[in-house]
Amino acid sequence: MKIVVGLTGASGMPYALALLKILRKKGVKVTLISSNTGRRVAAEELDGGAASLERLAGEVLENCDMGAWPASGSNDFDGMIVIPCTTSTLSKIAYGIGDTLITRTAAVALKERRKLVLVPRETPLSLPMIEAMRAATLAGAVVLPAMPGFYHRPKEVSELVDFVAERCASALGVKVKEGVRWKAKKGSTQNP
Ligand SMILES: Cc1cc2nc3c(=O)[nH]c(=O)nc-3n(C[C@H](O)[C@H](O)[C@H](O)COP(=O)(O)O)c2cc1C
Repeated sequence: MKIVVGLTGASGMPYALALLKILRKKGVKVTLISSNTGRRVAAEELDGGAASLERLAGEVLENCDMGAWPASGSNDFDGMIVIPCTTSTLSKIAYGIGDTLITRTAAVALKERRKLVLVPRETPLSLPMIEAMRAATLAGAVVLPAMPGFYHRPKEVSELVDFVAERCASALGVKVKEGVRWKAKKGSTQNP
């Protein structure tokens, strides 16, 4: 399996790190593309900064390299995820702007009907962002906000991070056996 991971400048780099670890464990071939702000936020949020993410990828491409292989629909990949995904990048993808390697690869994924998962992290949400999420969904992307559940009674932050990373892996079609799933308790009338 071949997955392109786009890293943009939203908070949430631990989610990207946890997902890259899952993909590596599953033997997925990963091509990583970081925006400049993505690198900057990674430096703030992770020990080792963007390098700690890049060392988990099989290949690292520059976001300004519009001639790199994922920019063309002739070159195959199974799916793409943008994690974390900024409002800016989400809006560009939703409205077909392909001015960087990340946004162009997302446009390729949509036109070729390949999997595209967008993991926005912003709060509160403005109407333009909600409209962009709607447009991206109508275009075929899966919008998977970084919103962990609490029904597995997490004790550590890493359990919340893994919750989101495992959902991302599943959305890409990577089976995660140990993934947290809500199970009804006997006699429970509560919905998840
Ligand atoms: C420390 C820091 C944290 C940020 N967090 C967010 C965020 O959580 N969500 C978001 O949409 N933008 C966030 N931004 C703003 C984006 O990085 C900015 O809009 C940038 O131009 C997006 O470019 P990119 O999508 O190419 O990475 C943050 C910026 C910085 C410097």
